[in-house]
Amino acid sequence: MSFWTELREKLAADPQRPRYHFLPPANWMNDPNGPIFWKGKYHLFYQHNPYAPFHGGRSGTMHWGHAVSKDLVYWTHLPIALAPTPGGPDKDGVYSGCCVDNDGVPTIIYTGVSPEVQCIATSDDDMITWKKYSENPVINSPPIGMAVTGFRDPCVWREDDGWYMLIGSGIKGIGGAALLYKSKDLINWEYLHPLYVGEKERTGTMWECPDFFPLGEKYVLLVSTLGTTLYFVGTYTDHKFRPEAQGNMDFGGYFYAARSMVDDKGRRILFGWIKEGRSAAAQWASGWSGVQALPRLLSLREDGTLNIEPVPELKALQSEHHRYEDIHVTPSSSSLLEDIQGDCIEIEAELNLGDAKEFGLKVRSSPGDAEETLIFYNREKKSLNVNRERSSLYPDVSREIQKGPIELANGENLKLHIFIDRSVVEVFANGRVCLTSRIYPSRVDSLGIGLFARGGSATLKSMSIWEIKSIWQ
Ligand code: FRU
Repeated sequence: MSFWTELREKLAADPQRPRYHFLPPANWMNDPNGPIFWKGKYHLFYQHNPYAPFHGGRSGTMHWGHAVSKDLVYWTHLPIALAPTPGGPDKDGVYSGCCVDNDGVPTIIYTGVSPEVQCIATSDDDMITWKKYSENPVINSPPIGMAVTGFRDPCVWREDDGWYMLIGSGIKGIGGAALLYKSKDLINWEYLHPLYVGEKERTGTMWECPDFFPLGEKYVLLVSTLGTTLYFVGTYTDHKFRPEAQGNMDFGGYFYAARSMVDDKGRRILFGWIKEGRSAAAQWASGWSGVQALPRLLSLREDGTLNIEPVPELKALQSEHHRYEDIHVTPSSSSLLEDIQGDCIEIEAELNLGDAKEFGLKVRSSPGDAEETLIFYNREKKSLNVNRERSSLYPDVSREIQKGPIELANGENLKLHIFIDRSVVEVFANGRVCLTSRIYPSRVDSLGIGLFARGGSATLKSMSIWEIKSIWQ
């Protein structure tokens, strides 16, 4: 058997490998790159090492993988879009960037390393093959005289008077920064000023993967701070951004380098990389690493923060449905649901906390609870939690408890929308808090789902659970 056939069989049999989250055929993936709606289809590019399940740093391993979808649900792999050119400005890696429609010519703007420079590539066959601009790079250094912490991940958009670009950066001693450039032709760029600069104590020293777009009456800036992806909502006038609200796109620590696109319905759709929570050795042994989060739909909430929900198209994957209503849960009622279990499921639940201190769900639970993951609300701390302390009997997986703040208004129930896809857990709470997690149960029977309450009793108002189909044939 060839190496690749053997690898494909191993991946297909791997109980940790997600079945309805997008990932490459094998090996490494990180950031989503240049998502774009083109001729009726969603194109997603991504940071990809096609040779092995590790990033490879600046050793010339980083490519742009490519996939296409009609519906944001089922994806078809396309040939690798960009590979490092030996001796070229991207010889050490084709790093993150974006893709724009330049009057019918799809154009990728990306970072080549090393050093970090900005390059472009175009396609004349509907994005199947790409040709790099012969005079790359189009920006060969950070602004003269500016001491920066990095200079990468362009985000480009068009205004009435030309093209604008943000580059992820940081001003030494001050904080992360998104640097604004302008161009008439995508080739000659003039530096204007920082669109926005953070304070290093609050938002980190380097901002990767900036993303900037209008949403309703406002503008949104996303930045990835080497730890998490933050958003700022504000106004944009005279090419200055003034934030009015701020939030964390996801509290789990696994969702990163988020980047968005607009589709033909005018919807703002967000992609993000979900990192691994297992050792490098385990990733190496499995032959794959990294997965894309489910596409998220962004809109504005009345209080000026972001509303974040999974795209409705994902309902196409729902198969068998189970419904529960008005279940009273006390600290002693801890049994698992009898009529459903699974590791590829979607749960939509509305919970009334009653007088419980903690109330929520158990998932990926083995009989006898040797393995289980708890997803719950803590009243006192006003937090959404994922407790992974007993999520796996394997020794080398992350198991710290994850928390995100969520204050429920008087009389407001907790509404959880949970996606379990083998080792991936994505939790959406009340449209305003997301928490992504990774769990790697060791037992094949860690499939149970249950409810639990601590310190008082609570009521499950209603709950739907669906078994979810694979997106691959
Ligand atoms: C973010 C990032 C980007 C960079 C890319 C390299 O995860 O570090 O800043 O372009 O990944 O793969």
